[in-house]
Amino acid sequence: MAEFDVVVIGAGPGGYVAAIRCAQLGMKVVCVDEWKNAQGKTSLGGTCLNVGCIPSKALLESSENYEKISHDFEAHGITVKGAQMDIAKMLARKDKIVSDFTSGIASLFKKNKVIAVQGRGTLLGRDGEVWRVAVAGGEELRAMHVIIATGSTPRVLPQAALDGERIVDNSGALAFTEVPKRLAIIGAGVIGLELGSVWRRLGSEVTILEAAPAFMPAADEQVAKEALRAFNKQGLKIHLGVQIDKVAQSKKEVSIAWKDAQGAAQELLADKLIVAVGRVPNTEGLGVKEAGLILDAAGRIEVDEHCRSTLPNVYAVGDVVRGPMLAHKASEEGVMVAELIAGQAGHCDLNLVPWVMYATPEIAWVGKTEQQLKKEGVAFKAGQFPFMANGRARALGETAGFVKILADASSDRILGVHIIGAMASELIQQAVLAMAFSASSEDLARTIHAHPSLSEVIHEAALAVDKRTIHI
Ligand code: FAD
Ligand code: NAI
Repeated sequence: MAEFDVVVIGAGPGGYVAAIRCAQLGMKVVCVDEWKNAQGKTSLGGTCLNVGCIPSKALLESSENYEKISHDFEAHGITVKGAQMDIAKMLARKDKIVSDFTSGIASLFKKNKVIAVQGRGTLLGRDGEVWRVAVAGGEELRAMHVIIATGSTPRVLPQAALDGERIVDNSGALAFTEVPKRLAIIGAGVIGLELGSVWRRLGSEVTILEAAPAFMPAADEQVAKEALRAFNKQGLKIHLGVQIDKVAQSKKEVSIAWKDAQGAAQELLADKLIVAVGRVPNTEGLGVKEAGLILDAAGRIEVDEHCRSTLPNVYAVGDVVRGPMLAHKASEEGVMVAELIAGQAGHCDLNLVPWVMYATPEIAWVGKTEQQLKKEGVAFKAGQFPFMANGRARALGETAGFVKILADASSDRILGVHIIGAMASELIQQAVLAMAFSASSEDLARTIHAHPSLSEVIHEAALAVDKRTIHI
């Protein structure tokens, strides 16, 4: 007999949400997680809560406040003299948010009767219908179902070995104890741009070296162009199409030898270097081979659209499988799998996963980009509206950017929504909801939007699809 209905391996947003949903549906659940914080203590919540979404957003908020008080308040007639920052306090605030949330997961587990076990879980194999999972330094767990949610880890760049001091990944970059005067970043992806923004706002001279010839290639081209212009204006130096040759360290600084897009040799000297060149699925120590799990070419656990692996009753969700490496996608897959195990009809539509980048301005999108639609030969109509013409945006002093809506040329069904501007992270949800209900741009155009609000920019962009904006 199995001890448990489900063993969940990993307690990030994929695993902990799956565990709670399984418990809500009446299953007996154990969740194994190996994460320990800097103090060596168990810390549930995975990358997202410990060194990802939550701490980065805490620092983004603090640094934005500092920048606003230093530069933006004067326009409101508010003069602040001698604004100062206390990095130790800023980091302590971030750490407190993290520890509140990670211990919050422990409380949620208790409330839902999910048993939490500390240690590395390894899939041993099947004993009849029962899966066996070893826990390093602990007892063997036995369950009918296994949900693997082991997440991802930073991709290593061989030329730039991390030392946790001068050359760091996201974890180190969230814990600098002073503002680096010269900050170099390899990779102009989401981490490079978000954390680059944090330290630039606090005073670093930031240079980002990006291998790809195009900036933010996954975003709508027009949005990417606007974003690059805004980041350059803020002082982020971004070099595209580079090749990193050699990274060397002295006691004083780090030197990065690189070639620019024309192949000319360059050298960048910095006080700190953040390496943010993507993340790789984490299957280390999981017993993939021994259990017979199949990995795809990128090292991700192969799953179908319902996150079923190639082994019976073994599921995998989140960063360790195909699809975007985003917390909300991981959680939604966790819910889907729990419901499928309970015999319900779970599903997760990967076409409706919103993307958000929390820089200034914020960037968010859902669905197809204009370049994707052109490539797929889909006929579409586009409507666009700038934040500059919106009353609330003017009152906020956040007038950069626009909303762009792409709708099918014949059916008018919304195919993609792209936002660059204030509160894009919040505004995008309206678009996700509309698309989840297969709304047309006319549906959005006929919906009453509160005035004055940023959401009116979406309303006007929907009106623009039919060339009938009111305010421009
Ligand atoms: P993870 O959160 O990585 O959790 C996996 C857990 O499994 C970890 O606790 C790990 O220790 C544990 N584990 C691994 N192997 C084993 C094993 N064998 N046994 C036991 N335990 C194991 N996404 C967003 O949506 N929004 C954001 O704003 C955002 N910001 C980010 C900022 C940064 C700096 C980073 C690095 C990431 C950010 N992400 C963001 C991405 C997000 O953190 C991930 O997509 C998300 O955490 C993936 O969830 P997961 O559950 O799949 O894996
Ligand atoms: P990323 O994939 O977003 O960006 C990595 C960048 O590094 C790419 O632009 C790539 O071209 C570049 N690169 C790769 N190799 C390089 C090299 N040798 N030299 C120079 N540049 C190189 O990955 P990132 O920023 O590490 O983030 C990982 C993941 O975490 C993201 O893909 C995202 O899924 C998630 N994340 C999400 C956030 C959000 O939702 N707001 C915030 C931060 C991370």
